[in-house]
Amino acid sequence: MEIITSIAEIRKAVHRHRSSGGTIGFVPTMGALHNGHLSLLAQSKANASLTIVSIFVNPTQFGPNEDFERYPRPVEEDIALLKHHGADILFLPSTEEMYTRDRYFHFEIIGMADNLCGKTRPGHFQGVVQVVNKLFNIVRPDVAVFGLKDIQQYRIIERMAEEFNHPVTILPGVTVREPDGLAMSSRNRYLTAEQRTQAPLLYQCLRSVFEMAASLNIEKTNAVIAACKQDLIRNGFKIDYLDLVEYGSLQPVEFLRANARFIIAGAVFVGKTRLIDNLILET
Ligand code: PAF
Repeated sequence: MEIITSIAEIRKAVHRHRSSGGTIGFVPTMGALHNGHLSLLAQSKANASLTIVSIFVNPTQFGPNEDFERYPRPVEEDIALLKHHGADILFLPSTEEMYTRDRYFHFEIIGMADNLCGKTRPGHFQGVVQVVNKLFNIVRPDVAVFGLKDIQQYRIIERMAEEFNHPVTILPGVTVREPDGLAMSSRNRYLTAEQRTQAPLLYQCLRSVFEMAASLNIEKTNAVIAACKQDLIRNGFKIDYLDLVEYGSLQPVEFLRANARFIIAGAVFVGKTRLIDNLILET
């Protein structure tokens, strides 16, 4: 595996591969890799002849009181994992390489960042869209894989690629779970042993809402959401949101209907650790 830290070099490598008729798969990450990321890597490898993984903890997507400083950065472990699982190139830029000191532009996202994580993380998705837009312009991938665990991010990036005419196909990476249902996340490593045993309650709640919502009864579904919130609070979780939204617009659901797609999404704090998860319901 080649490790490249400069934009000029990654562009050369991409150009070389493409000139010889190859295709580029891209998996952008912030490192602290787990099996979820490795499944994105496998998906990219199955869909392109060269896979580039990036590791960049993007400062512009963290709020002032968020975990940018303490975000895990086990770079050596990540490199070993990527080598073992057959990544072709690791793009590992510094902050200085990615951002000039003065920045005069930022993205405005209309509607799609107002709910769910966007509500309590103002500016987060603007930062994500900014860096992914830059990464797409640098790497120019044919396919890029993003995990469905970050469903709002996934939907926003899908739209961004479409609206800004990035010549890339966005592939969804299915959420990889621990045997007890907890979605894999780089932040799970913050959990104490006791918090780790409690953490799957979020997934259990999403499942109960999912099952009721599948019956298309919105009143009963809202009642299950309310009961789940009580249950989470009783177990010491702090709830950011537990919501049912339309798949397309990410707006709250007024009524459930057949032949449609909905998202049941939750974000909770277990201690100081923020966990998110979701299920997609196709009726
Ligand atoms: O999902 C992530 O790890 C990040 O938000 C991403 C897409 C790599 C952008 O920094």
